[in-house]
Amino acid sequence: MGKKLFIETLGCAMNSRDSEHMIAELTEKESYEVTDEFENADLILINTCSVREKPVHKLFSELGVFNKKKKPGAKIGVCGCTASHLGEEIIKKAPYVNFVLGARNVSKISEVLHKDKAVEIDINYDESEFAFKDFRSSGYKAYINISIGCDKSCTFCIVPKTRGDEVSIPDTLIINEAQKAVDSGAKEIFLLGQNVNNYGRRFSGTHEKVNFTELLRRLSKIDGLERIRFTSPHPFHMDDEFIEEFANNPKICKSMHMPLQSGSTKILKDMKRGYSKEWFLNRAKKLRDMCPDVSISTDIIVAFPGESDADFEDTLDVLKEVRFEQLFSFKYSPRPETEAELFTNTVDPELASHRLTTLQSLHTEILDENNAKLLGNTYEVYFEELFQDGFVAGRSDNNIMVKTKGSEELLGKFRDVKITSIGRTVLTGEVIA
Ligand code: SAH
Ligand code: F3S
Repeated sequence: MGKKLFIETLGCAMNSRDSEHMIAELTEKESYEVTDEFENADLILINTCSVREKPVHKLFSELGVFNKKKKPGAKIGVCGCTASHLGEEIIKKAPYVNFVLGARNVSKISEVLHKDKAVEIDINYDESEFAFKDFRSSGYKAYINISIGCDKSCTFCIVPKTRGDEVSIPDTLIINEAQKAVDSGAKEIFLLGQNVNNYGRRFSGTHEKVNFTELLRRLSKIDGLERIRFTSPHPFHMDDEFIEEFANNPKICKSMHMPLQSGSTKILKDMKRGYSKEWFLNRAKKLRDMCPDVSISTDIIVAFPGESDADFEDTLDVLKEVRFEQLFSFKYSPRPETEAELFTNTVDPELASHRLTTLQSLHTEILDENNAKLLGNTYEVYFEELFQDGFVAGRSDNNIMVKTKGSEELLGKFRDVKITSIGRTVLTGEVIA
């Protein structure tokens, strides 16, 4: 019997890809196989996120449960951003943890596995050219990292402290990885980075100057690759060349994440985001003008220190004007080692909750109005997920999730689907061609 690995992944898509990388290394080099039950596992990994404050004691209480119920002799490893951020403290508080592996050190997984109490959290470690073994949780869509770290210094964000400076992965490695995924049947790739459209700013060795727009052009030449998605671009780097390539390249899916954070130019300045309300609106308008079908998603933080009623109104204004198809919204949460942690002009927690609700209800109204217009439309859907009760689900080019009656045989196929009923997160339709 092979050894069993249980892995819990929290946080962003990049963490999901890091988990895939660790699974690949452990299955190929250490003969593990993945299990869904931690009680049966020989190795338990938690790949953590630290972007917002989930009380750290929650991590420790979870670790406590793992420790109590794990198989005798099973190892426990804490990986990811909270590992980078807390380091040795984790082993001090939970001495049964066998190792701690930072978000920028995942390539060392099979190494730390054999060093008891290892703490590898160097945020200057450069794994941008590390060739990970192959593992993908989906055969239809391939996640591909294009850079590690982040060079921005948004005052609310802990990521630069946990993932370090930004280094781009050479385009040749990315193209190879995409080609391999396509050869094994994937028709869609999903490019990942904290700030994808800053791609090419710094490579680890000497490298031809390739920016994100050029990377997209090169990738779209791969035969058999039908769809390219990416996350997250930064509004500051959305120049005309990038928006035009996005609009005109038929392989690039017409769905854009534009993390606004705040609609107030003053707050954006305090956040060090590098753009104004007007710039954001101008970019969104250019996108919508060039690409009428585009769906735009966003991230918004309410109640950042110093946010006045007028600042919050600016955020609502942008929401009304851009009418985002999807909203991820958060109450500001102070993070250690960030600039904003020291800001004293905090917003009253009750007011913060009120603003979050106001923002979300306004967005729900917009969503309902937007969705009502979709009834009867036809979308080309790429099916990638089996749902319960005889349904299969996939996404339209512009990222609308659609389900239809069907079986496995639709998976990995493109079909025209006519929308017959509307829901908030998923629409239902019938395959017509
Ligand atoms: N560059 C990444 C950012 C990762 S963090 C990206 O664009 O995806 C993801 C989101 O979490 C951010 O866009 C922001 O809206 C939110 N976030 C980050 N730090 C936060 C904090 N301290 N409090 C509340 N939300 C935060
Ligand atoms: Fe964080 Fe800003 Fe980078 S949100 S990940 S510092 S772009």
